[in-house]
Amino acid sequence: MVSKISVGLFTAGILALGLSSAAMADAKASIEAREACMKANGGMMKVMVPVIKGQKPYDKAAIDASIANAQKACGGWADWWGEDTKPGGAVKTEAKAEIWSDPKGFEAAGAAYVKAEAAVLASTDEASFKAAFPALGKACQGCHEKFRQADE
Ligand code: HEC
Repeated sequence: MVSKISVGLFTAGILALGLSSAAMADAKASIEAREACMKANGGMMKVMVPVIKGQKPYDKAAIDASIANAQKACGGWADWWGEDTKPGGAVKTEAKAEIWSDPKGFEAAGAAYVKAEAAVLASTDEASFKAAFPALGKACQGCHEKFRQADE
């Protein structure tokens, strides 16, 4: 239940993107929150990828905990995309300008991620986990290709 609510919040945040402008947290806090959300996403991959590669045994509890951690870290998503958080602003960011010029595309990339993450959470054994995982990996990659300029 908790996870469903979190997924809903994430989606609501993405849908609110186009409308949001007022009441933004300051740029630095927003960008730091984005990074913390994405670091939790990275942590989730560190739990999942070794299982996919056969380096670690399947562990549903660990997988679910990594998803819960990411959902918690990403819960404030709606408030993190103010105009003052664009690239080239006062605070360094890996976000690309396309987030603001193509809000529908960004929303779709976020929705694909939410959907794929929910499918992984719903998987109940190693086979269903392995079937659900590739869409999640693609969702990360798909958004990054269009909307993130990695600086390392
Ligand atoms: C809807 C778009 C979107 C999705 C989906 C997405 N990311 Fe990101 N990611 C971004 C953006 C934008 C940034 C740059 C944020 C910034 O610097 O302001 C980023 C940055 C990152 C970073 C660097 C964080 C840092 O400390 O600078 C990591 C790691 C990362 N993402 C991992 C992931 C993983 C793993 C997934 C999938 C589980 C994922 N992301 C899904 C958009 C996305």
